[in-house]
Amino acid sequence: MNGMPIRTWISRSAGDTEALGERIAGVASRGQVIGLSGDLGAGKTALIRGLARGLGFTGRIHSPTFSLINLYEGGRLPLFHLDLYRLDGPAAIHEAGLEDYLIHPGGISAVEWIGRWTPPPSHQSHWSIHLTPLDDTTREITHDIPGL
Ligand SMILES: Nc1ncnc2c1ncn2[C@@H]1O[C@H](COP(=O)(O)OP(=O)(O)OP(=O)(O)O)[C@@H](O)[C@H]1O
Ligand SMILES: [Mg+2]
Repeated sequence: MNGMPIRTWISRSAGDTEALGERIAGVASRGQVIGLSGDLGAGKTALIRGLARGLGFTGRIHSPTFSLINLYEGGRLPLFHLDLYRLDGPAAIHEAGLEDYLIHPGGISAVEWIGRWTPPPSHQSHWSIHLTPLDDTTREITHDIPGL
């Protein structure tokens, strides 16, 4: 987190979480990095699905757990969807060649398992979103996104 106030929001369905992602698309500008954390199945991909929809992307959205990165083009801005789950630290992220997409000046980067990454000193800041399952369908979502 970067010192912005933390806001908490309760999602009662996957659709609710996607709707939050759509709202984030409305306030995100080029070069924005959005880091997501939370356990397996917390809803990180669901939120990014809404983000991609909100940007105007119409294709399929799925977790790039094995491919490491998906690119969604055709919307207002390109969206780089990364999943660092299988990478255990900065060296592995570097070797996979992901740094140029983690921070990309031409689009928005949405990063699942952001905790695996150590930002370089030159990195300005990024938005942080944390999802906590409360029960099967309820998620507590905390974030530091201004204006949301
Ligand atoms: N309120 C909710 N918000 C988001 N997802 C929900 C909610 N309630 C139920 N779900 C379900 O939880 C699952 C969330 O899966 P999702 O792939 O988005 O998780 P993830 O955090 O990306 O996990 P992974 O770390 O494995 O990539 C989906 O099956 C979704 O339908
Ligand atoms: Mg996922």
